Amino acid sequence: MKHLISTRDLSRAEAIGLLDTTADMVEVRGRDVKKLPTLRGKTVANVFFEDSTRTRLSFEAAALALSADVSTLTAQGSSVSKGESLKDTLQTLEAMGADYIVLRHSHSGVAATVATSGWTDAHVINAGDGTHEHPTQALLDAFTMRSRLSGATARGAGLDGANVVIVGDIAHSRVARSNVWLLNTLGASVTLAAPKTLLPKDVTEWGVSTSLTLDEALDGDPDVVMTLRIQKERMSSGYFPSESEYSRFWGMTSDRSARLKDTAIVMHPGPMNRGLEIAGDVADSARSTVTEQVRNGVAARMAVLYTLTGVQS
Ligand code: NCD
Repeated sequence: MKHLISTRDLSRAEAIGLLDTTADMVEVRGRDVKKLPTLRGKTVANVFFEDSTRTRLSFEAAALALSADVSTLTAQGSSVSKGESLKDTLQTLEAMGADYIVLRHSHSGVAATVATSGWTDAHVINAGDGTHEHPTQALLDAFTMRSRLSGATARGAGLDGANVVIVGDIAHSRVARSNVWLLNTLGASVTLAAPKTLLPKDVTEWGVSTSLTLDEALDGDPDVVMTLRIQKERMSSGYFPSESEYSRFWGMTSDRSARLKDTAIVMHPGPMNRGLEIAGDVADSARSTVTEQVRNGVAARMAVLYTLTGVQS
């Protein structure tokens, strides 16, 4: 594996390998000395053409924890704002010796283009491309599910038989796409719940069930309810009548949370619109894995960088 562009490219063995390596990295993070020397002398360039808080910080923390040198480029404050082309930006990074390029961009398909362009020899990691994919988010989500549902020591296991509901703005969500491909590979069964306007047009080809009400999806007794952010920045017109109506029909409210079985978890990739797709008290409840996802995110990204170096544990 040279690049990580899409969870669709991962075999089951590769996906489980990444989850197991994430477990190793969680252990490293729990030690007194929280670093490994794996990437000493290597440079990780974080190239963020689109806003990010946790993904960018998480990749920085992961690269530093593997002893890499880290440089971060954001569109604002770089020559990108002067209209420099993607090709020129990447060739500049290449000339400066970037070994890994972590790339976020608002256009779907950019990470794959860069990986196959010949502009750079670096390993390319997709940190979110438009509405297409966000593979490291799916890996940290799958790891979080596996640890909560099967225990932190669940080595070698997939998510066979886990019943996962993903609710909300599926159409605009790269998180949903990467999760669906990975969850299918890991053996989970996935139900997407969203108003028709927020379901992707080709959903019948996704290998999932769909539900046109959240309450109906919850009747299926899920182990996991993953709520997604309403992606206002990617919406061109009114996809639902009003925010209060959306949260009434599709929000993870306290009442809905109370209907779940004791062991069920509620996830959200962040950033959250509290009170819209998820109620504040649900986000802060014991069921919520929101901060655990962020914590596991550093370990999952360490696992990806580690695995792409080809070093075996
Ligand atoms: C997600 C993203 O940027 O795709 N956030 C994240 O990476 N933590 C989800 C979102 O923006 O809603």
